[in-house]
Amino acid sequence: MPIYEPGRRVAIIAGVRTPFAKAGTTLRALSAIELGKIAVSELVHRTDLDPASIDLLVFGTVLPSVLAPNIAREIALMPLLPKRLDAYSVSRACASANQAITNAADQIALGHAHVAIAGGAEALSSVPILHSRGFSDALVAASKAKTLSARLQAFAKIRAKDFIPITPAIAEPTTGESMGQSAEKMAKLNGVTRDEQDALALASHENAAKGTADGRLTAEMVPVMVPPKFAAAMTSDNGIRSDTTAAALAALRPVFDRRYGTVTAGNSSPLTDGGAAVLLMSEEAAKAAGLQPKAYIRSYAYAALDPGEQLLQAPVLAAPMALERAGLTLKEMDLVEMHEAFAAQVLSNLRGFESQYWAERAGFSSPLGAVDRTRLNVMGGSISIGHPFGATGARVTTTLVNELERRGGQFGLMTVCAAGGLGFAMVVERA
Ligand SMILES: CC(C)(COP(=O)(O)OP(=O)(O)OC[C@H]1O[C@@H](n2cnc3c(N)ncnc32)[C@H](O)[C@@H]1OP(=O)(O)O)[C@@H](O)C(=O)NCCC(=O)NCCS
Repeated sequence: MPIYEPGRRVAIIAGVRTPFAKAGTTLRALSAIELGKIAVSELVHRTDLDPASIDLLVFGTVLPSVLAPNIAREIALMPLLPKRLDAYSVSRACASANQAITNAADQIALGHAHVAIAGGAEALSSVPILHSRGFSDALVAASKAKTLSARLQAFAKIRAKDFIPITPAIAEPTTGESMGQSAEKMAKLNGVTRDEQDALALASHENAAKGTADGRLTAEMVPVMVPPKFAAAMTSDNGIRSDTTAAALAALRPVFDRRYGTVTAGNSSPLTDGGAAVLLMSEEAAKAAGLQPKAYIRSYAYAALDPGEQLLQAPVLAAPMALERAGLTLKEMDLVEMHEAFAAQVLSNLRGFESQYWAERAGFSSPLGAVDRTRLNVMGGSISIGHPFGATGARVTTTLVNELERRGGQFGLMTVCAAGGLGFAMVVERA
């Protein structure tokens, strides 16, 4: 039973993103808010959308600015958009843009909105660095002190270790395990070899390089003038290595388990800066505005498992649910887009789709089956293109609907794994 049957169909009209840049490189001077504004304003201009018609803006980010935590509202307050535009932010780790999209879609399906922009952005070049608790306590005490000696006393309590800053770790708060360590564990538990991981990484780079060379990937981007000089434009993702080879990948040393590991910088997604946004509309609103939808959201599902188990395996639980809600099978999918946090995770998820054990865990009597690899991540994935946590879900959605249209396909499945043992899947149908 399609999930949106009782409500209105939600159309995906278009998507736009910034080029993705490895953290610390070309886009390092831009905040997530600025990256989001660039993607959203291009989306409005490219679709010739009347800004006054937008009802809602939902945006995802994983590491928000401490000073402006509601990224969506900051974006909505750019001069192009009306000040009355309702806007709020969501966080669901690497599936944050997916959460933004499904929140906005729900509002359209319910009839609460007709036109919504949803997406996400991440600036991993500028993650917030915090003072230790001891140092913060001393600063607060000093600010409240009424005399010079009381102020000095507050600072006297600071110990050497208090000067060590705290940087956000890509690790599970409950288990302490980093994403990379989880990927290592999943490779071992699912029997995923180094060769398989490197082959998937190579395919990711080759497909993304092809998509860049023939303009399919770059068509989804808005060129970004690079601050502070604004003398040059960034026009394509800078992590794609058109020259990488199986031999070069095989030569890289494991990062997260140096002695026995298989996960390397080459078969992991890099830390990345970027922003992405999609335009969603009710069918009636699209018709009234003369906009041709690319696809409709047919169904979606979220799932979760114990993060201490296989942190990035929950797409295996979400995908069968989304397909069941769509009333469709994996075989009917013309394209499959899977977020590539690590090659080890994608390959573990693919193994899970074929496994009786995981089917039963998801509440089904038989597995989904094997994904046709010629339909998987045909324009590359997060390993090559990059992975700005908050933005990836909107990047994947845009690519899926564009490529579905290009190939004349009918149905597409996307999956995204996320911290906390969360997983997402969505089925789209070409309009
Ligand atoms: C894996 C990780 C630690 C690597 O970081 P890094 O060391 O800064 O990565 P680099 O890009 O500098 O690559 C390291 C080396 O591998 C090489 N390399 C990377 N990819 C390569 C490829 N495809 N082909 C050939 N060489 C490659 C680089 O050239 C570099 O070589 P050098 O040291 O001689 O310059 C980092 O990307 C990371 O933490 N990724 C995971 C992020 C994560 O957990 N995300 C959450 C997932 S949801």
